[in-house]
Amino acid sequence: MRVIRRVRDMVRMAQTIRRKGGTIGLVPTMGALHEGHCSLIRAAARQAHVVVVSLFVNPLQFGPREDYARYPRDLPRDVKLAKAAGADVVFAPPTSEMYPQGFSTSVQVRGLSDILEGRSRPGHFRGVATVVLKLLHLVQPTVAYVGQKDYQQAILIQRLVKDLAVPTTIRLLPTVRELDGLAMSSRNRYLTPPERRQATVLCRALREAARRIRGGERHATVLTGAMRRLIADAPLARIDYVAVVDAATLAPMSRLSGRVAILAAVWVGRTRLIDNLLVDVS
Ligand code: PAJ
Repeated sequence: MRVIRRVRDMVRMAQTIRRKGGTIGLVPTMGALHEGHCSLIRAAARQAHVVVVSLFVNPLQFGPREDYARYPRDLPRDVKLAKAAGADVVFAPPTSEMYPQGFSTSVQVRGLSDILEGRSRPGHFRGVATVVLKLLHLVQPTVAYVGQKDYQQAILIQRLVKDLAVPTTIRLLPTVRELDGLAMSSRNRYLTPPERRQATVLCRALREAARRIRGGERHATVLTGAMRRLIADAPLARIDYVAVVDAATLAPMSRLSGRVAILAAVWVGRTRLIDNLLVDVS
C-alpha cells in the first residue's frame, strides 16, 4: 500500500500503470471512512488491477456556513481501513496540491446542480464536479465507484463524464445502512444519542413512500405528504426537502412511471442528513 500526497506522483504512477495495460479503479472520498466507503473499495478490488482511494476534504463543495472546518479527518485510520478493504494506493493530497495559488477553473453541470441538494447548497455541485473531474484526470481510472447514498451526485458525475467524454465508467453501488436503517455517513457521528434515535425517521419515511408506491399510489404529492407527516412526528427532525422524481433526470413527475427516486434531506438537530430509495413502478 502506498500513500501519495503529490499530484505529480499520482499522475506519474497512473501513467505507468496504464502504459503497462493495467486497469485502475478509483474510489473518491472525503475520508472518515466507514462501511459504505469500504463496500466501494471492495467492489473496486474485485474488478481493477490497481485500486486508488482518494481522501480529500474538498473545500470547494462546502458552503460558508457548512462543516468544512470540523469535518472529521484521520489519515492513519483511513489508510488502515482502505488497505484492509483492498486499496493499493491512497491519494491524500493537501489542499495546496489540488488548488495551488491561482487556481481559477470550475466545472458546472447545469440544471442538475440547481435542484434538490443544489438548491439547498448553492455552489456545492460546482465544487463536486470540479474536484471529481480533476481526480479523474489525475488518476485515469477505468472505472470509478460511487454510492447511491449520494444519488444526485452520482447522476451528476455520470452526466459530467458523458458530456466531457471522460473515458471512465461510473459504477453506482447500493447504500450501506446501519441495522436500524440509517444510511451510513461520516456526518452521523455529529448526532447526539437522542438525535441518533430519531434519525431513523428519514429512512422510515422513504420506506413508507416506497411501500405506498408498491401498493399502487402514483401521485408524487400524496407520497411527499405522507413522508412529511411521518417526519413531523420526530421532534428533533426538520425537513429540508422531500421529493419523488424521475430517477434518470431527477425531474418532477405528477404521475409516477418507470424508475423513480424518492429523496429526502432532513436536519436532525444541527446535522443535515440525506437519503434516497429507488423504486421501479410497474
Ligand atoms: P464522501 O461523502 O466521503 O463519499 C464518498 C463516496 O462514498 C460517495 O460515492 C458516496 O456516495 C459513497 N458513500 C457514502 N456513504 C455511503 C453509504 N452509506 N453506502 C454506500 N456508499 C456511500 O461524496 C463525497 O465524499 C464527495 O462529494 C466526493 C465525491 C469524494 C467529491 O469530493
